[in-house]
Amino acid sequence: MSFAQPIRTLAVGYRGREKSDDSYTLTPYDVSGRQMKVVGGSTSVLLAKGLASELSAGYVEVAFERHPGGFPDGERYVRLLGSVTGEHVILVQTTYPDPMIVELFLLADAIRDAGARRITAVVPYFGYGRQDKRFLEGEAISAKTIAKHIAVDCDELLTMAIPANPEIVRTFPLPTKEVSGMPAIGRYLKGAKIDAVLAPDQGALRLAKEASTIAGVPFDSLVKKRIDSYTVEIGAKTLAVKGKSVGIVDDVISTGGTIAMAAKELRAQGAKRVIAACVHGLFVDKAEENLKACDDVIATDTIQSKFTKVSVAPEFAAAIRALG
Ligand code: R5P
Repeated sequence: MSFAQPIRTLAVGYRGREKSDDSYTLTPYDVSGRQMKVVGGSTSVLLAKGLASELSAGYVEVAFERHPGGFPDGERYVRLLGSVTGEHVILVQTTYPDPMIVELFLLADAIRDAGARRITAVVPYFGYGRQDKRFLEGEAISAKTIAKHIAVDCDELLTMAIPANPEIVRTFPLPTKEVSGMPAIGRYLKGAKIDAVLAPDQGALRLAKEASTIAGVPFDSLVKKRIDSYTVEIGAKTLAVKGKSVGIVDDVISTGGTIAMAAKELRAQGAKRVIAACVHGLFVDKAEENLKACDDVIATDTIQSKFTKVSVAPEFAAAIRALG
């Protein structure tokens, strides 16, 4: 909160300069009179439309290419195709892959310039969250860097399963709330009739506990040791999984190494069915190969992939209704 004012003041200064430039003209929009409008970045259109539907809010389409095919060098382009003047705008954009971060900033700036009265950034997957402190002198605290730039144009931030110590959000320069995606995953696991929920490590324990409550089954955790970005080891621990159907719940599946090790361990201990569930499915490198160790893999729509089977639109909608 303490950084918010200087950053906001700086942004207003920039906007003032732009408006005194003769070449700068505001696009004349129609004012529809709706209470809230949703805008989705190119990688979050489906979730944004789902959220608009949950909230019975208007959806503002965006053009992401000025010319068919976009810019040859991959630079992003945005143009709002509807009015947001005087509106409370819900801007939904995930931060993966990296160019989507630039698109998020472009959209926030365009929405603010177009006269929105309030912008709530919904950043379903908050990339760069892993670097939540300065481990070595001279490093950027990347999570804070991203939050600082969101604060330039947005009034508040909602995100989900931030891949960091959740306390990091207290250091962000704008009001930030971490929304849980576990109700969506818990509902799916309940429907899949699992007998237990397992966290692959202590970090995921709070997620497994919440999902297990919704699924109405017990939870436990494995013991994981990370060797490097690509290698993990699962420690010895006996679990009550013999003959059971088990859901492994994690915040992120990246290379799938963690889930593969956990699934193999559960099978070695006699589990008859293993379902891997994550909030954020990055699925990089050999993830698909690694995930063959599971009977089913599900991810939410914070990042769209072929494994996206549940939507967190209801969870974000509830958090937005509670904003006041
Ligand atoms: C870190 O501990 C996270 O909670 C995940 O377990 C991790 O990011 C998964 O990465 P991977 O799929 O590459 O093992």
